Amino acid sequence: MAKIAWGITGGGHLLKESLDAFGGLENADLFVSAAGMEVLDVYSLEPPVTPITDSTFSTKTCAAFASGRYGLFVISPATSNSVAKFAYGISDTMITTLFSQCGKSRVPTIVLPTDMEETVMSMGATKPLKIYPRPVDLENAEKLKSFPGVSVVRTIEELLKKISETPGRGV
Ligand SMILES: Cc1cc2nc3c(=O)[nH]c(=O)nc-3n(C[C@H](O)[C@H](O)[C@H](O)COP(=O)(O)O)c2cc1C
Repeated sequence: MAKIAWGITGGGHLLKESLDAFGGLENADLFVSAAGMEVLDVYSLEPPVTPITDSTFSTKTCAAFASGRYGLFVISPATSNSVAKFAYGISDTMITTLFSQCGKSRVPTIVLPTDMEETVMSMGATKPLKIYPRPVDLENAEKLKSFPGVSVVRTIEELLKKISETPGRGV
C-alpha cells in the first residue's frame, strides 16, 4: 500500500492536534516546513517521528511523489501563507512544491487550513488568542476546493474521516 505523506507548515493552530492525528497513522511520513520547525520549537512540541525537512531549492524529495511512493498527501495545519501559494500555483517551499507536484502526479491531497472560519481561537505563543482571518485568507481556502484531487476540511475529525475514505485506508 502506498504511504501517506503528512505536511506540517508554520501554523500553531491545530498543530498539537495534527501531530496527535499523525501519530495514530500507520505507514506515514512527516514533512515539516522550515517555519513549521520553528513553530514546533516555540510550543516545545516533539514530532512522534524524525521529520523530513528538505531545504533544497528544488525540493528533491518531490521525485518520490511522482514515482508513486505516496498515495495521499495531507497538509495540516496549512498556514494562510501556504494556502495562498497553493491557490495561485506558487511552489517555492518544500510543502508548496509537494502540493503542486501532487496535483501534477494525481496524488490526492487533503488540506486543513488554519484560517477557515471568520474567527479562530488559536494557540498563541504564551496564551490562547482570538484571530480574525482576513477575507483574502478565507477566499484562498475556498478557491482550493475547485482544484481536482484536492479536499479542503475544517476539522481534524473531518480530516481523519477523509483519510479513512481514501481507497485502501478504510477502517
Ligand atoms: C508561534 C507561531 C504560530 C503561528 N501560527 C500561525 C497560524 O496558525 N496560521 C498562520 O497562517 N500563520 C501562523 N504563523 C505564521 C507563519 O508561521 C508564517 O506566515 C510562515 O511564513 C509560514 O510559512 P509556511 O507556510 O512556509 O510554513 C505563526 C507563527 C508563529 C511564530
